[in-house]
Amino acid sequence: MESQIMVRDIVFRYPGQTEPALNGLSLDVYKGEWLAIVGHNGSGKSTLTKLWNGLLLPQEGEVRVETLDPTDATDVWDVRKRIGVVFQNPDNQFVGATVRDDVAFSLENMGLPRQEMVRRIDDSLARVGLSELADREPHQLSGGQKQRVAIASALAMRPHVLVLDEATSMLDPIGRKEVIETVQQLVSEGMTVVAITHELDEVLFADRIIALSKGKIAMTGTPEDVFQNPEALRAIQLDVPFIVRMQLELKERGIPLDRLMLQHSELVNHLCRLALKK
Ligand SMILES: Nc1ncnc2c1ncn2[C@@H]1O[C@H](COP(=O)(O)OP(=O)(O)OP(=O)(O)O)[C@@H](O)[C@H]1O
Ligand SMILES: [Mg+2]
Repeated sequence: MESQIMVRDIVFRYPGQTEPALNGLSLDVYKGEWLAIVGHNGSGKSTLTKLWNGLLLPQEGEVRVETLDPTDATDVWDVRKRIGVVFQNPDNQFVGATVRDDVAFSLENMGLPRQEMVRRIDDSLARVGLSELADREPHQLSGGQKQRVAIASALAMRPHVLVLDEATSMLDPIGRKEVIETVQQLVSEGMTVVAITHELDEVLFADRIIALSKGKIAMTGTPEDVFQNPEALRAIQLDVPFIVRMQLELKERGIPLDRLMLQHSELVNHLCRLALKK
């Protein structure tokens, strides 16, 4: 598999802190995957993304974004074009007076010809399903729509990797669903997505999960692998998603489940079949 971001043996300590925020961490982000990074507060998730785009420099180890080195003063600008980041607070990400202006703003420093700018704006708004709202003002948008604008602004830079750092945590369930469906769509079109989240229900659809604890990888694997082991998750202060919890309780009550199911429809069908057999 082709690695788009590579992290090797990273140690990072904030000035004045005794404990390192990242402690000998190695991982890869592969091309075209949806990687979910989970972990309790302070486990090092945001620090990791800041090392990717050269906002922080590691004391040990190395980072590569494709062939680029974010610690290199000449590479770092290209690195930042390749990694689009969307943050937590929808209201802090808006800089334009309208949706279209906002996306335009992200392109301002790229020196693109006007026509190319317009093409990129239209194209990225279409990709997040917001073409109709291009002339709206920010205060007229829902939280989910605002975050989709933030995704469009990131996409306009034509990044190779999209990073969402808790991008859904301030949204209501509808907004959250909107953003997740947008991510799903982008991944199906070939985008590489790293989604950092506390919401374990959101990671059910990811290709792979990395769980951090105290600046190290505590668990990794497919959602099926990781949620197979609720005790290990609880040991690093993470819970299991509702659908997994439900299956654990069903098993305790003696209801046969031959494997862990992560789709609601799959579980419902299975239970209906069991009920019919009786
Ligand atoms: N600017 C800073 N100065 C000193 N320590 C910091 C700074 N930023 C983060 N830390 C510490 O580094 C560790 C990792 O923080 P980080 O923000 O990467 O965690 P996180 O996993 O993103 O947490 P959260 O889920 O709360 O966003 C924590 O112990 C945090 O207190
Ligand atoms: Mg964080």
